[in-house]
Amino acid sequence: MQKLSSRRRTSFLSFQPPAIGPEEIAAVTDTLASGWLTSGPRAAELEARVAELTGARHGVALASGTAALHLSLAGLGIGPGDEVITSPITWPATGNVVVHLGARPVFVDVRDEDLNIDPTLAIAAITPRTKAIMPVDLAGQPADLDPLVATGIPVVEDAAHAIEAEYRGRKVGSIAHATCFSLYATKNVAAGEGGMVTTDDDDLATSIREYRLMRRGDGSLYDIRVAGFKANLSDIHAAIALCQLDKLERHAEIRRRHVEAYDAAVEELPGITPLARDPRDRHSLHLYVVRIDAEVAGADRDAYQRALAEENIGTSIHFLPVHRLTYYRERFPDQPPLPIAEQAGTEVLSLPLSPAHSDGDIADAIDALRRVHAAFTR
Ligand SMILES: Cc1ncc(COP(=O)(O)O)c(C=O)c1O
Repeated sequence: MQKLSSRRRTSFLSFQPPAIGPEEIAAVTDTLASGWLTSGPRAAELEARVAELTGARHGVALASGTAALHLSLAGLGIGPGDEVITSPITWPATGNVVVHLGARPVFVDVRDEDLNIDPTLAIAAITPRTKAIMPVDLAGQPADLDPLVATGIPVVEDAAHAIEAEYRGRKVGSIAHATCFSLYATKNVAAGEGGMVTTDDDDLATSIREYRLMRRGDGSLYDIRVAGFKANLSDIHAAIALCQLDKLERHAEIRRRHVEAYDAAVEELPGITPLARDPRDRHSLHLYVVRIDAEVAGADRDAYQRALAEENIGTSIHFLPVHRLTYYRERFPDQPPLPIAEQAGTEVLSLPLSPAHSDGDIADAIDALRRVHAAFTR
């Protein structure tokens, strides 16, 4: 066991600061000077770049990851009376978009090792009303996609965390019927806000584009076929995202180094266990999530989070089970318990992880975690 230092960090370590450099600042300035602020050449370039990165036929740039999920389901024609099977361990957006379309989210339990949807349970929950399955690639670990895709039911993958991930040697973004990415401020490609759908389905791509903006007709007239949303991505955001794409591998290398440091540290801290990463896959290392077993670690997750905050270390929680949140409890009172997700919701804690962190920042977070663990297990 490494010797404990007693040094508390003097400044607060943010959980996931964005890694923005002079390239992003120059790209925004250039975009402003170009006179083209809304969706234009940069958004189109981003679509082409993400399609190329993932190997998908289409990339559709949107205002958020939430819009990517929402418009994918809308484009598949999902509506009242339909069911969408999904994971409870996700950001509430994944369930909310189903509700917004008048359909019913059917939450099934997750696997204990990585907290991704259990494909056996997802398949068992299929009914004649099931119109889509929405797995989540939690923390950057791709969900087990093959058995879900094999059902023939459209898979709309929530890959908000997983832009550079690979599943069994195939790029995330080229496997599901539609794959939805987020470009939110903390994500691996951070534009501030933004989202992207990749798909090989020409009709779905057209439909998402129609829902994204009012469809233009020819000449001076316009017409619409669907009541669309205002969910397009501005060129200002696209310009930032393009710079972040250029840095994806460099940032991945920093994340890998930091994850290795965490792995080595938590191995010596009984009761603190990282989520499993499948060696057959490429994990995007978006989040470093540990589970805190209160019996062994001497205190529960909330106590650890408070103690780390006192050490000036920011942490976060990914995620509280969505079906237990007030809206979902009240709206869907017949939702059966999901024991693995519910237990995990009390245990998960995400440690600081961003390419904006230095090795010293991560060493500070590890030092603090060791001190807190030593105090709780004394
Ligand atoms: C798992 C997951 N799904 C969906 C979203 C929604 O993405 P956005 O914030 O870009 O709307 C997020 C996060 O922000 C997320 O973490």
